Formats: sequence, structure tokens, C-alpha cells
Amino acid sequence: MEKNRVLIVDDDNMTLQTLSMALEDDYETFTATNGLNALKVLAKEDVDVILSDLDMPGLNGIELLTRINEMEYPVPVIVITGQGTIETAVEAMKQGACDYVSKPVNLDRLALLIEKTLENKRLKEENKLLKQQILEHGPQLDIIGQSEALHKCKELALQVASTKATVLIEGESGTGKELITNIIHYNSPVAHGPIVKVNCSAFSEGVLESELFGHEKGSFTGAVATKKGRFELANGGTLFLDEVGEMPMSIQVKLLRFLQEKTFERVGGTKTMKVDVRIISATNKNLGELVSEGTFRDDLFYRLRVVKIEIPPLRERKEDLDDLVTGFIDKFTQLHGKPIERIDDEALALIRGYNWPGNVRELMNCIESAVVMAREDVITVEDIPEYLAYKSAGGVDSKEGLLHELERKAIVDTLNSTRGEKVKAAKILGIGLRTLYRKIEKYELEV
Ligand SMILES: Nc1ncnc2c1ncn2[C@@H]1O[C@H](COP(=O)(O)OP(=O)(O)OP(=O)(O)O)[C@@H](O)[C@H]1O
Ligand SMILES: [Mg+2]
Repeated sequence: MEKNRVLIVDDDNMTLQTLSMALEDDYETFTATNGLNALKVLAKEDVDVILSDLDMPGLNGIELLTRINEMEYPVPVIVITGQGTIETAVEAMKQGACDYVSKPVNLDRLALLIEKTLENKRLKEENKLLKQQILEHGPQLDIIGQSEALHKCKELALQVASTKATVLIEGESGTGKELITNIIHYNSPVAHGPIVKVNCSAFSEGVLESELFGHEKGSFTGAVATKKGRFELANGGTLFLDEVGEMPMSIQVKLLRFLQEKTFERVGGTKTMKVDVRIISATNKNLGELVSEGTFRDDLFYRLRVVKIEIPPLRERKEDLDDLVTGFIDKFTQLHGKPIERIDDEALALIRGYNWPGNVRELMNCIESAVVMAREDVITVEDIPEYLAYKSAGGVDSKEGLLHELERKAIVDTLNSTRGEKVKAAKILGIGLRTLYRKIEKYELEV
């Protein structure tokens, strides 16, 4: 196995040599006579741990620590302190040293410390890697929210997952249509198969057709080679047709035929292809309306909508807000490595008062920005993107006025969503029924 690499920094040559000799059986050692030289070594070598004296000419130990901790990947530092200078040791620990030994150095203790430090470093790196893998790789399958509406969507998704039924997902932009699609695919019998996604609004008619169904060499200018389409690529898995409402009529016909017969031909091809693909489509338009407007085939509409999942906009399920906020704070504190504990009531009121036209995606972006901006371990109104504060308050400027306006708005919105049912509204708002009556009176609301 490759030896771990230790850099020893001390202006006293005797100490350097003694330590270097004591450690070189177990480690690859490097030496430097002051902080500046240490930085030079670090620029060239990958070092796993540093042993550093504090009192050195040039760049001293504390300054070296500061510089190291500003690096992208700080190397752990164990400081060596002179006799009876416990204060400097404490100071060094505050500056981020991971431990200290005092002179004269007890070599057994030092060996133990080095091993402990290396183990710690290894764990940290492993942890970071795992988190990264979770955050970056693998589809996100956790859907946050306890509202009845979302619960129904989840249940329906899991229920249809086990079948091969064609699913249509309707919902405004940012409500979680792709998330539901992933949940269906990864809980289905073809979870190990491919999931192929196509945004139907992202291509012109001709390109979309060959993207979906592929083309034969020479079928049009530029078709220099035969190309497989997404239907073929999705064989044995799921094909996700995003923004299906934007699909041109000519392609709707081909899709309909596929749904009826499981067959199609490549553009410019004569051979009939057959693949086994489950179709999930999504739209942020009302597909029924497109049918009555005549831009979407009704026979295709019925075929796509064997099962329909409708995700309501966030403003109609404000009960989900708190869980989403907490979930996203967790996610982004991890991602950005910030020690944020919670969000305060005022900021939460602001979030509850806003109507989230961009739905969950907008909320997620808002929380990410707040997490990044926050200077303390609590998120406050100060950290919420300004546009939200402005829009949510409708231009009120005093803080008290702002809070009243938010409260009024939250009550109005909630009562609208419960169609005036006060018991339900009070529950959603998390206040007593009597309090709700009092507030209705206070804000002179008509129910
Ligand atoms: N209930 C939820 N819990 C956790 N994350 C969610 C939830 N709903 C949506 N998200 C997240 O919000 C973002 C937007 O969701 P998604 O991409 O699924 O929306 P969409 O409906 O496909 O939007 P668009 O119509 O704009 O494509 C994603 O990062 C998704 O993971
Ligand atoms: Mg989407």
C-alpha cells in the first residue's frame, strides 16, 4: 500500500530530523523550515497531514494554518507547541488545527494522533463523496409534502407504476411532473431499463420526428448515417414525452399508431420496427382544451390519458409549504456546507404569503438563495430574495404593515382554497378556529 504523506514544519533542524527519522518507516515524510517553505512543498506535493511548529520566522504556524484553511482542500494540521504555551495551542485549535502535541514530543502519542487525524480525514472525504453521489447522481425520488392532493398523486403514481399503463401528468411549470415520472419509472418492473426523455417543444417538426423515430441514411439532406430514435433507445423502459401538447399534428398521428400497434417506421425507412416502451407524457397546458381548440387529436388524448395524474399548483396546497421549506433547507445546507438550523417565523410568513407562480421549482430556488445568503444559523427575511418580499407584501413598507398584509393574504388564500370552510382553513393555517374568526373580523374579510 502507498504510504501516507506527512509534512513536518519546524525552524529547528534537530526537531525536523528527529521527527522525520521517527516517522519515515511508516510515512513518506517531507520537511520545511518555516511556513513559506511549507506552502512551497504543498504547492508541489499531495500531503495528507501536516505537523507544524508555531513559533517560526517568516510565516509562523498560525499564519500557515490560516493560509491552509483558505485552500480548497485544507490539509489537517497538528501543531507542535513549546513547553507551557497552552494559550497558543488553544489559539491554534481555534484557527482550525485539528490537535496539538507539546515539546518534547512524545513519539507514541504523536503516532496515535497522526493515525487518528488520517482516519478522520478519510471519513470526511468518504462522507463528502457519498453526499455528492446522493445529490448529483441517481434520480431524486423523494417527494415532499403531506397535502391530500399530493398524497393522491403519490399513491396513484405508485399504483400505476406496477402496470404498463400509459400515463398523462398535468401540472403547471415546476410542480413536479418530471419527479412523478421518475417515481413511476423507478418503481416499475422496467426500473432497470432505460428512461428516455424528450421535450416535444424543443425541436422543430422535422427534427422532432427523426429524434423520436430515428431516420435512415440519406432520408433527407444531412442524414449521413442511420440514426436510432428515442423510441428504440427506450426499448425495455420508459419514454417520457414532456410538453406533449406542443407535438405537431403529423407526429401525433405516428404516436397514435405506436400506442395502438406498438410499431413505427424510421423517417425514410420501410422496415416496420417494434419496441416495448411505456409512455409517460406531461403537459403544463390543459390538453382537453387543446383538443377542443383542434390542435390536439382527441383519439390520441384518450390514449395518452389512460391514467391521468394532476398535480395542483403550490398555491392550492399551501399545507406543503412548511415541509418543502424544511426539506430544501436540509438539502442546501448539506450541498453548500452551511450550518443553518432553521428559518424564523417572519421569513416563513413571507413565504406563506406569496403565491408561487413558479411552484416548487421557484420555492426551491428561493430557499437555495436564502441558504447561500444567510449569515447566521437562522434564515431571516433579510435572506429572502428581494422580489419575493416586495411581491408578497404588495408594496407595504413598514415591517408591521408587512406582517399584517401577509397574514391577511394567507387567510384569504387559504379560505379561497377551502372554499370558505373555516374549520379546514384554521387547520391549514395552524391556528384555532376562534382565532380565525377574530382575524376575519379584524381584516373585515367577507367569507
Ligand atoms: N413535492 C416535491 N418535493 C420535493 N421536490 C420537488 C417536489 N416537487 C417538485 N420538486 C422539485 O422541483 C423541481 C421542479 O420539478 P419538476 O422538474 O419535476 O417540475 P415540472 O413539473 O417537470 O416542471 P416543468 O413544467 O417546468 O418542466 C425539481 O428539482 C423537483 O425535484
Ligand atoms: Mg419538467
